[in-house]
Amino acid sequence: MNNETHLSFTSVGDISLTDLKKLVTFIKNNFNFDFSQYAMSSFKRRVARVLQLYSISNVDELISGLVNRRELFDEFLKEITVNHTEMFRAPSFWRKLRDQVIPLLACNQPIRIWSAACSSGEEIYSLAILLQEAGVYEKARIVASDINDRVIAKAKSGTYWIRSLEVNEKNYQRFEGKMKLSDYYVTSGDNYIMNKDLLRNVSFKQFDLVMGSEFSKFDLILCRNVLIYFTPELQNQVLRLFNNSLFMKGFLAVGEKETIAFCKNAEKFETFCAEERIYRKISE
Ligand SMILES: C[S@@+](CC[C@H](N)C(=O)[O-])C[C@H]1O[C@@H](n2cnc3c(N)ncnc32)[C@H](O)[C@@H]1O
Repeated sequence: MNNETHLSFTSVGDISLTDLKKLVTFIKNNFNFDFSQYAMSSFKRRVARVLQLYSISNVDELISGLVNRRELFDEFLKEITVNHTEMFRAPSFWRKLRDQVIPLLACNQPIRIWSAACSSGEEIYSLAILLQEAGVYEKARIVASDINDRVIAKAKSGTYWIRSLEVNEKNYQRFEGKMKLSDYYVTSGDNYIMNKDLLRNVSFKQFDLVMGSEFSKFDLILCRNVLIYFTPELQNQVLRLFNNSLFMKGFLAVGEKETIAFCKNAEKFETFCAEERIYRKISE
């Protein structure tokens, strides 16, 4: 059972909708992040978690803390935006990407890929390994972005706690990679460090899917396990951004529990693989 399961609102005082709105407005005005269209139930759960973790009794006290301590905002952002990730998360998706999507892009020069919420980088190393093993890495130009610059720094460092290795190794085996995952990292004390060469065609960028606008065009966009935190209106807005950011027939992949089906802008995509949540742009 994880910490989140233990949280109860009674332990932190009930958080009203008015409190949440006050907090969202404060953050927008002071930090220029807009959480107003994050799904409120999970946002509320996350705020409760911050209150509990930092022994803060209510939202007003949290706001005062955020005014006075910049580092508290970094922690807050980390909790609110949910950074959990794994290498080759949902391995069948990565097999589908390797076996059916990448071959259709292999002739492109370059192959432009955007990982739009890369978290601490496990998705980027997975992608780089996949492209390398498919023999197309040299053609690839990858943009890796996230709202949170702290996770981007971790992605660049490629240094992960040894305890995450088991799940990543297992995922890589289920992906049926050509090598051993250990061919791509070295261990160092309690950590393992990914081979930085895998980042030679990757550029990192802090980018907020809510506030940001189109900055380039891509053949493939990965945006996995993020839309689930957004309201349907925001999902639709982000889908418009992705449509504008894809070449015609470009691919969009979302997370295994996500779908674009209920968005109005879904009509601009066709389903390429329903099971693995891969879509293809068919109109502007
Ligand atoms: C659960 S992780 C998913 C990471 C990875 N894509 C995966 O599937 O394993 C969600 C990521 O979305 C990022 N995120 C949340 N809101 C965002 C926003 N508005 N713009 C960009 N990234 C955002 C978080 O910082 C976090 O790193």
